[in-house]
Amino acid sequence: MKIGIVGLGAIGSLWAVKCHQNDHQVVGFTRSQVTETLSIQLDDSQPIRIKANDYHALQQCQLLLVTVKSTQVTTALEPLHAFLNKDTPIIFLHNGMGAVDALDDKWHKNPLLLATTTQAAFRPIKNQVNHTGAGQTLIGPSLFTSSFNLAKIKDLIVELDSVLPRVKWCDDIHNALWNKLIINCVINPLTAIHQCRNGELASDKFKAQISWLIDEICQVISAEKIEISHQDLVDNVYRVIQSTAQNFSSMNQDIAHHRATEIDFITGYLMRTANKHGLTLPHNQALMEQIKALQTN
Ligand SMILES: NC(=O)c1ccc[n+]([C@@H]2O[C@H](COP(=O)([O-])OP(=O)(O)OC[C@H]3O[C@@H](n4cnc5c(N)ncnc54)[C@H](OP(=O)(O)O)[C@@H]3O)[C@@H](O)[C@H]2O)c1
Repeated sequence: MKIGIVGLGAIGSLWAVKCHQNDHQVVGFTRSQVTETLSIQLDDSQPIRIKANDYHALQQCQLLLVTVKSTQVTTALEPLHAFLNKDTPIIFLHNGMGAVDALDDKWHKNPLLLATTTQAAFRPIKNQVNHTGAGQTLIGPSLFTSSFNLAKIKDLIVELDSVLPRVKWCDDIHNALWNKLIINCVINPLTAIHQCRNGELASDKFKAQISWLIDEICQVISAEKIEISHQDLVDNVYRVIQSTAQNFSSMNQDIAHHRATEIDFITGYLMRTANKHGLTLPHNQALMEQIKALQTN
């Protein structure tokens, strides 16, 4: 297959190398639109070389993977629109929700597919990526995708599963994204504000605050008719705190490195949904304001 990848950061580079190793032709799109080819090394394997910023090659792509952050989706896609076929599926692999909703109507002709992944990758330096955790990627239709060739898309999923297993089709991706969002709404801002590892949130010091955050989140998911009980929600949050105890969350790292965070598409999306239902979430609101204040420092 010919596969376009927008955003050759940690996750994009991981997919680029895996696709290349599985004999797919990869063309990468970067912010700095200068190079004709680009080298990427995954762990200690042989570095690969892929085409970069070749807009004419994009016309032949059978798939576009969007691996920029939620805050970067609109800007990263804009220069590609004129070159992408209208039936090329686009898979979005960012954290958070709402970035695809913000895209212009002109994108709605393409099959827009949303993904959530527990694969983990880290880019220590440019042109180098480490696969730091194997996981699962769920892919399903966005609300803007009313008609598409499901059989063709499912063939694509089988192909992607052989590239970087496990990849599964998920009819109710909206539900899966909400489940991930809930966990991110608790773990990301708290670990960013306190500059701690995920595991530290298991201490008694955070117990009351996590409980208040979850109580508020429960009101929103109940209004949205997301099927998850309060107890399952609490269990999921603490399960992830335990299983990723040694990790620094992406928001923690963004604040530490003075980068913009994805808060507008994590807690921000929760707040916008709460607003739609006339709900106020003072504890989540306070966390969002703290993150925004830290971002501007
Ligand atoms: N890394 C993980 O383990 C992991 C796991 C699960 C989910 N995610 C999610 O996946 C998304 C990507 O994460 P990441 O860790 O791969 O982030 P990242 O390393 O920052 O990668 C994003 C890449 O997008 C590039 N980019 C930004 N604007 C662009 C534009 N206009 N055109 C083309 N490229 C552009 C950035 O370029 P520069 O290099 O110039 O900044 C960067 O290389 C995030 O939403 C993250 O939360 C990541």
